[in-house]
Amino acid sequence: MHSDSHAPRPMTARGGNGLSGTARVPGDKSISHRAFLFGGLASGTTRVTGLLEGEDVLATGRAMQAMGALIRKEGDVYVVEGVGNGCLLEPEDVLDFGNAGTGARLTMGLVGSYHFGTTFVGDASLSKRPMGRVLDPLREMGVQVVSRSKGRLPLSLHGPKAATPIEYRVPMASAQVKSAVLLAGLNTPGITTVVEPVMTRDHTEKMLEGFGAAIEIETDGDGVRHIRLEGQGELKGLADFQVPGDPSSAAFPIVAALIVPGSDVTIENVLMNPTRTGLVETLLEMGASIEIIDRRTEGGEDVADLRVRHSELRGIEVPPDRAPSMIDEYPVLAIAAAFAKGRTVMRGLDELRVKESDRLSAVAAGLAANNIAHEEGEDWLIVEGDPDGAAYGGGIVVTHLDHRIAMSFLVLGLAAKSPVTVDDGRMIATSFPDFPDMMRRFGGTIEEAAPDR
Ligand code: S3P
Repeated sequence: MHSDSHAPRPMTARGGNGLSGTARVPGDKSISHRAFLFGGLASGTTRVTGLLEGEDVLATGRAMQAMGALIRKEGDVYVVEGVGNGCLLEPEDVLDFGNAGTGARLTMGLVGSYHFGTTFVGDASLSKRPMGRVLDPLREMGVQVVSRSKGRLPLSLHGPKAATPIEYRVPMASAQVKSAVLLAGLNTPGITTVVEPVMTRDHTEKMLEGFGAAIEIETDGDGVRHIRLEGQGELKGLADFQVPGDPSSAAFPIVAALIVPGSDVTIENVLMNPTRTGLVETLLEMGASIEIIDRRTEGGEDVADLRVRHSELRGIEVPPDRAPSMIDEYPVLAIAAAFAKGRTVMRGLDELRVKESDRLSAVAAGLAANNIAHEEGEDWLIVEGDPDGAAYGGGIVVTHLDHRIAMSFLVLGLAAKSPVTVDDGRMIATSFPDFPDMMRRFGGTIEEAAPDR
């Protein structure tokens, strides 16, 4: 399910009337990847509803199929027949993860401890991203790594006869690294321990427990989490696994509604796991009108509907320790900050430099192209807001194959005085294929150039 055209597809957003309506955003990307990974590994059948049908997640599904899982769709439900823990098959071909860092890194962990060879490839963006953060602990477990490009894709892994359980302290705030080590631990005798000084999204821990893994979490007096997993136990498929709506996708219509005058939009069924709600917390501190309606639990996760109305925002200092709970939302927060009164200071952003693009410099360049006052530092960004945005827009934004840069600046275009063009909207399909249509249904204007042929 790749885009059929290799040519960039520019998109332009322009201002207009307020946005209104009610919608659901697609399933959470992190949870959807894990649904295919764990469902494909567990013995028996897992039935998944609400899965994100984005290109990133579908790539993970294809990788699991290549290693023996059976995946089919029945109506809206993905039915996954897993192989059983420890029973993945050697894939015949390379595993192509396209743009997907989460899929690639988690699968490296999952399959790295198997005594066979696997080769990972990806697109130009993924081939620039650092994989050493996952390869280092895997090497400690006995995995051999062959890479000509110094810890970048393409690379091949070959696991030992029996991997060595390790205790690994995650050196950066990364749920992907934590998860890769735990997944390698699934096929390793004994106890694999991950020490997590800064808590990141906890979907791997929660879902592994749900699938029946022997996993224990203890938080010590310093707030450091110790996650212990006993390897080679049984994982069992789940008869009904529901994927809640992605807060990282909801972020785009939420910010659009806040900055386009006259807007009133409701997004239903948004995941409210506290490791993911940093943006909503921040926007509330900035004075946003976001009503959290009908908080409830679905499939073991907190979800709620969010009613968002156009608001007068004010700039704030975003606490740096909030970064892990909103790491993917800084690009669109920068757009909200552009319409706030005063300055918004964002610190602790070093991880933004190694996402689908160097998001700090991509955001700064996009702000510059659209006359938005800002300052960029090594790991910080300051945006000087102007609630009228009198000079905003008119720029062409370089997206560097990054879906969130594309969507953030299209949101800017919906509120700016002059239209905003992004050079390529194809990558939006990796996480939120319906984004342009959803914004149009809300009354926004997003135009797409026909693909070059
Ligand atoms: C993810 C973890 C985060 C996040 C990514 C999804 C995950 O990456 O940016 O979009 O599903 O574990 P890092 O672990 O690199 O911070």
